[in-house]
Amino acid sequence: MVNESQEKQLCHVALIMDGNGRWAQRHGVSRIEGHKQGAIAVQKLIESASEFGIKYITLYAFSTENWKRSREEVNGLMDLLKEFIDNNLEHLQKNGIRLLASGRIEQLPEHSRESLKNAIKLTADNTSGTLILALNYGGRSEICDAAKKFAHDVVKHKIDIDELDESRFRDYLYLSEVPDPDLMIRTSGELRLSNFLLWQLSYAEIYVTDTLWPDFDRDEMKKAIDGYYQRERRFGGRG
Ligand code: FPP
Repeated sequence: MVNESQEKQLCHVALIMDGNGRWAQRHGVSRIEGHKQGAIAVQKLIESASEFGIKYITLYAFSTENWKRSREEVNGLMDLLKEFIDNNLEHLQKNGIRLLASGRIEQLPEHSRESLKNAIKLTADNTSGTLILALNYGGRSEICDAAKKFAHDVVKHKIDIDELDESRFRDYLYLSEVPDPDLMIRTSGELRLSNFLLWQLSYAEIYVTDTLWPDFDRDEMKKAIDGYYQRERRFGGRG
């Protein structure tokens, strides 16, 4: 059962990194500069993850809806993705962090996709932690893609319709081997899921901070984590 242990170890944190645009506006710089500062915040977050004993981090880096932004911003984000991967590969390797991606990756531009695939391959055997980039990701798309894969297996007589339950359906999601997030953090104060991990966040604790993503640092992360353990303890007290 979920949420029943008094000291449930925080294993997987998922983050909606919102507020780069507002940060840019407040600092009088371009939106893409806001995203660059956001990427620096990601770098710092990865460095602090092992300190907090977190095994999995999932970052909502580009949603299926983000294609609607200006071509300049989309291209800027895709270039930034490649730059981020290339700049951080050595750190991932040194620290034993495996990189994974979740989403319709095949639709990303070739230069970012190749960098991503290369880093995923090179870090595949790392075991200290896992960094998941949700890219061209949408929770509804993921569920639709899973339903299609299931239907194909039914047609090919690999599975019977009556065998489908929550656990079997999960096997058809993008990264079925990854445990569900225990905590979902959203920056910049919006109280929405924005199509993020709709299946996987069913039982997650949710923490929202007004801090804009580029300002999200180790201390902010610690606040969120302390909040998580406090909630767990309260629940245990009632149990
Ligand atoms: C939301 O802020 C953020 C994004 C759509 C992109 C997230 C990207 C990064 C943090 C930088 C790159 C990260 C990696 C891993 C390469 P927003 O633009 O919607 O902000 P706003 O709501 O204030 O306009």
